[in-house]
Amino acid sequence: MTDKTAVATAPGKVILFGEHAVVYGRPAIAAPLSHVRARASLESIENNGVILHAPDLSRKMMLSDAAEGDPLAAPLRAMQQAGLVPALSGVRLTVTSDIPIASGLGSGAAIAVAVIRAMAAYSDLPSLDAASVSRLAFEVEKQHHGTPSGIDNTVIAYETPVYFERRDPESFIEIFSPARPLILLVGDTGVRSATRHVVGDVRRQWLADRERFEDLFDACGKIAAEAKEAIALGDPKTIGLLMTQNHDWLRKMTVSSTELDTLVEAAIAAGAYGAKLSGAGRGGNMIALVSENSRDAVAVSLRKAGAVQVLESRVT
Ligand code: PMV
Repeated sequence: MTDKTAVATAPGKVILFGEHAVVYGRPAIAAPLSHVRARASLESIENNGVILHAPDLSRKMMLSDAAEGDPLAAPLRAMQQAGLVPALSGVRLTVTSDIPIASGLGSGAAIAVAVIRAMAAYSDLPSLDAASVSRLAFEVEKQHHGTPSGIDNTVIAYETPVYFERRDPESFIEIFSPARPLILLVGDTGVRSATRHVVGDVRRQWLADRERFEDLFDACGKIAAEAKEAIALGDPKTIGLLMTQNHDWLRKMTVSSTELDTLVEAAIAAGAYGAKLSGAGRGGNMIALVSENSRDAVAVSLRKAGAVQVLESRVT
C-alpha cells in the first residue's frame, strides 16, 4: 500500500448585507474571513474502513455508521453521488476548524469545502474549480438546513467578496473588491445558535404573514443594492449607515437578540460607522465597520459590552 495524504483548507465568512432576505431571492453581500479556517486531511490507513475524525469535537466514527447529513460524511457522499470519486476504503478523514460552530461564520460550509477539496486532491481529480466545489458544498448545505440560499458555499468556495442573488436554476454571482478596504471588527456574543432553527423560524413567520415578511425582505434587498454602490464608491459612512439600517430590519424579523443588540449599540457608541448582526442571528457574531482611528476604541467597547472574542478582518 502506498502512503497517501492530502490536505485542504477553507475560510470562514461574514454576511455584510442581506442575510435571511437572500433565502427569498433578494440580493446579499458576503466576504471571506480568511484568517479563521477549517482544515481537512485525508490519509491512507492499513484498515479497509473509512474513519471520520473531528478531534476538536471528540468525535470518531466509521463512515458506514455516520448518520445522513453528518457534516463530515455528507461532503464525501455528495462527491460519490456526483460520480466524482469511487467508494472509499482505507482512509482516515480528520477535520479541525478554528471557525466557531453555530455562530454565523459559515463553519458548516467551510468544513464541506475543505473536505471536498482534500478529497479531490486525494483522488487525483483534476483540480475542481470554485464553481464545482461550491455546487457540491451546496448539496451538503441543503442537508444541514433545508432551504439554504447558497451564499455561504459560494463566498467560501470562491474566497472573495461576492454580491449574490439566489436564482433558479443558476444563482447570480458577482465577485468584487471594494474601492477602499473595509475594516471590520467581528464580535462574538458567545451564544450558539443553529442556522437551521433560525431559518426555519423565519419561514414559519413568513408563511403566517407573507405580506409583512415580503416587505421586510424587500427593505433588506434594497439596502444590499445601495450598499453595493457605496462599496464601489468607497464611502464608509454610507456603508455603515446601511449596516445599521439592515440590523434594524433584522430585529423586526426577530432574528436579533439582547446580546447582539448590546454589541451593535456599543460599537456605534464607540465610533463605528455602523454595525449589524451577521449570519443567521439569535446569537453568533456581529460586525462593525470601523476606521483606523476608531478600531481600538470599538474593540475595547465590544469586549466591555460582553463580546467573548473580537476579530479584525479587512475586506479587500
Ligand atoms: O448562520 P450562517 O453562517 O449559516 O449564515 C446563514 C445565512 C442565512 O441567510 C440566514 C441563510 C442562508 O442560507 O443564506
